[in-house]
Amino acid sequence: MTSLSKSATNIENLIGKAREGNDLSRAEIIQLLQMPEDHSPALFTAADDVRKEQVGDEIFLRGIIEFSNYCERNCLYCGLRCANAKISRYRMTADEIIAAAQQIKNLRIPTVVLQSGEDSFFSTEIICNLIERVRAETGLIITLSLGERSLADYQAFAQAGANRYLLKHETASRDIYNYLRPGCKLESRLQCLFNLKKLGFETGTGNMVGLPGQTPEILADDLLIMKKLDADMLGIGPFIAHPETPLAGIDNDALELTCRVVAIARLITRNTNIPATTALSTLHPQGRIQALQAGANVVMPDFTPDIYKIRYDIYPGRTDVGSAAEIMVKLEKDFASIGRSLLYSAGYRKK
Ligand code: 5AD
Ligand code: SF4
Repeated sequence: MTSLSKSATNIENLIGKAREGNDLSRAEIIQLLQMPEDHSPALFTAADDVRKEQVGDEIFLRGIIEFSNYCERNCLYCGLRCANAKISRYRMTADEIIAAAQQIKNLRIPTVVLQSGEDSFFSTEIICNLIERVRAETGLIITLSLGERSLADYQAFAQAGANRYLLKHETASRDIYNYLRPGCKLESRLQCLFNLKKLGFETGTGNMVGLPGQTPEILADDLLIMKKLDADMLGIGPFIAHPETPLAGIDNDALELTCRVVAIARLITRNTNIPATTALSTLHPQGRIQALQAGANVVMPDFTPDIYKIRYDIYPGRTDVGSAAEIMVKLEKDFASIGRSLLYSAGYRKK
């Protein structure tokens, strides 16, 4: 056997081992991230098989409402950063949020994600009132994505009726984290995630792929954090440079690599809920479909009213503009083309 075919056999064995549910070491994860591209189809097929076996063929839906684009943080990658004076800021009123949540309910989507920048205008009390109203007036399952808050805040949100929380750790590299998120600490973020898990939230973490300075070793550490936290949801998306940020102009062609991270995440975490992120479909028209065939099982259509949606400018070129009903028709059609249907049920992680 040539050394080339020996290493090909070695990679096939590794993918087989992961498919069977055996733990992968950091070195093995790095090997999968770095292997030649002709092995990708085998990795994606293995992840697709595990997705089918663990969470089924149906795509879980979560409707997002981006209710405030104010943010007190200054992350170097994000268009909502407080130093971006060009963005036109908005806050939706409680009535506007309820109206958008009603649309989600009318389309039979069972869960809403209430997302914003880190905006302290929305005090603990205001958020709790909002949770109670959404609960009482729509009955939707509530996911929050509001950034880092105190343990007491998270406790209050849980008591008010929130069930899930998304807070991506963004990157496992302390150096990159400190550089990209001035004044923030990876430890504090991980502590928030730990607190959320402890309080019984279904908890989501995740990362960006293709950040400047990122290495396969760092991506492997991202994947190990997802596993170690026993996160229930994993948001994995490519970094897309925003022109009004210090990272403007940095090219990122990370479609293939992002799908690899999604696939490995599925293989090592088995039954988690993994969205095919909007950032992937922004990067490439087929991005979302490719991720759904590489381990992803969730789609999060955006129900923010159009007048606000275009101002929730985290990165440029976000797709899915149009009315909610139009978006749903398009999604159903795209997914039917790969033999997948939409699931209108809660989509809790099965333990
Ligand atoms: N490219 C891709 N994702 C981004 N996010 C923020 N800025 C960008 C960008 N330029 C993601 C982060 C954050 C979420 C709100 O959006 O992962 O958690
Ligand atoms: Fe604010 Fe989040 Fe954007 Fe950072 S990534 S600037 S915390 S919205």
